[in-house]
Amino acid sequence: MRRLTIPAIRQRKVDGVTAEPVVMLTAYTARQAQLLDAHCDLLLVGDSLGQVIYGLPSSVPVTLDMMVAHGAAVVRGSWHAAVIVDMPFGTYEQSPQQAFESAARLLKETGCAGVKLEGGVAMAETVNFLIQRGIPVMGHIGLTPQAVNVLGGYGARGRSEAEAAKIIDDAKALSDAGAFSIVVEGVIEPLAVAVTQAVPCPVIGIGGSAQCDGQVLVTEDMLGMFERVPRFVKRYEDIATTISGAAARYAAEVRERSFPGVEQTYQPKAPK
Ligand code: KIV
Ligand code: NA
Repeated sequence: MRRLTIPAIRQRKVDGVTAEPVVMLTAYTARQAQLLDAHCDLLLVGDSLGQVIYGLPSSVPVTLDMMVAHGAAVVRGSWHAAVIVDMPFGTYEQSPQQAFESAARLLKETGCAGVKLEGGVAMAETVNFLIQRGIPVMGHIGLTPQAVNVLGGYGARGRSEAEAAKIIDDAKALSDAGAFSIVVEGVIEPLAVAVTQAVPCPVIGIGGSAQCDGQVLVTEDMLGMFERVPRFVKRYEDIATTISGAAARYAAEVRERSFPGVEQTYQPKAPK
């Protein structure tokens, strides 16, 4: 199976219509990527790994080194999906040049197909700078978690008309700059639909609308790894219960010395 290309993803949406929705999930490790790859068009090495893998309070402290390490692991573990790596906070906002240096490192050291960065109008010049120099860019607007200290929380965006209009302007600016796709996160449904209709490139929703051109979720959220998740998460499994149940059974068997059993122990070879 040949790996999907960024132009192929972009071409999913033709004259405003996406016949086959774009399927995206996050992946942070090689094995996780192997398991998700065949089912997804895009694998996102999200900076949500800050909270999910590293136990950080937000994505703000995530470093480029972390994204390089996990991005390379996900590329090694996949063969079909296009891999997109998030640009972490503080590695691209200062100037197009800073963004190019960071994004080039992600492409060169991970083998990913493209990068994602947060922001709309303010980032349009940078997005265009990267694309003109060979780096495909996915936008991310609406609830942008790296801006949590400005936004004041993770609540849904676009409830006022002014805020909704600004988010549509953000989408148009990214699209005009050449973004191949845009994630819209945590917005009221009519705004997610309006954003989807406002731009020619595929709009991927998370806390958006089923009418978006595709969907993304954090895999651990979707698997039921965490007790508290945003309203927009659907839990397809209860993996937290599976993991703690397995650990409880293992602990009990170690304490009663019933593990390891005969099948798990080596014995000296029988004499010939
Ligand atoms: O970091 C992340 O996982 C993301 C997705 C939720 C879109 O940016
Ligand atoms: Na992210």
